[in-house]
Amino acid sequence: MKRLDKLLSDAGVAPRRELKAIIRSGRVEVNGTVVTAPETKVDETAASVAVDGVPVDTGQFVYYMMDKPTGVVSATEDRTEETVLDLLPPEVRRRGVFPVGRLDKDTTGLLLLTNDGAFAHRIISPVSHVEKCYAARVDGIPDETDAAVFATGVILRDGTECLPARLETDGTDRCLVTVREGKYHQVKRMLASRGKPVLELRRLTIGALRLDETLGPGGFRPLTPEERQQALRETML
Ligand code: URA
Repeated sequence: MKRLDKLLSDAGVAPRRELKAIIRSGRVEVNGTVVTAPETKVDETAASVAVDGVPVDTGQFVYYMMDKPTGVVSATEDRTEETVLDLLPPEVRRRGVFPVGRLDKDTTGLLLLTNDGAFAHRIISPVSHVEKCYAARVDGIPDETDAAVFATGVILRDGTECLPARLETDGTDRCLVTVREGKYHQVKRMLASRGKPVLELRRLTIGALRLDETLGPGGFRPLTPEERQQALRETML
């Protein structure tokens, strides 16, 4: 058991003296009930705590970002292929983490790993529309016509309609694509539908979370408390 203000400061929500005011003003719920006394004792292993309706990680959940390298699959296990979990040390794997959504085997960049199923669901749910930005190198030069088609909604070769997306071009074979959904091979299929097949693809952002480029291929680290709160907040919108 922990005092509520201590639990929230340990979770990185705010400094303890600010938390007293936050709690007293009625912004904190424990198991769905508003609690206004900072000294209230809470079982951090069992209680669900929320600030302004946003769930707080009280320690049972872990969140990591990885710079996924090429050649590994975004799965928890695979009979033949190396998986992103094989890149993690046993103490992290023991927490029951899994990748949030999928990147193709040959796609690199920002991959989240967590044991928080509700969080993962909110990130990948088609209704949450969290923006994801990818850097692509293609065979061809994406142009303003392509960008205009992306902005109205690409129709894939099999007739699937995509939501409006952003294509940023710079007159070279490189571009940035921002999508709000995650259909199978979506970015590759969108660019292929414009006759510009993808040669390299790298995810840079998921919502407000940006890949830490200092990690290097296969590198990973826990999200900072600020990144975690920001990601949780964003997916509650
Ligand atoms: N779009 C793709 O085509 N591949 C990915 O890995 C991610 C998005």
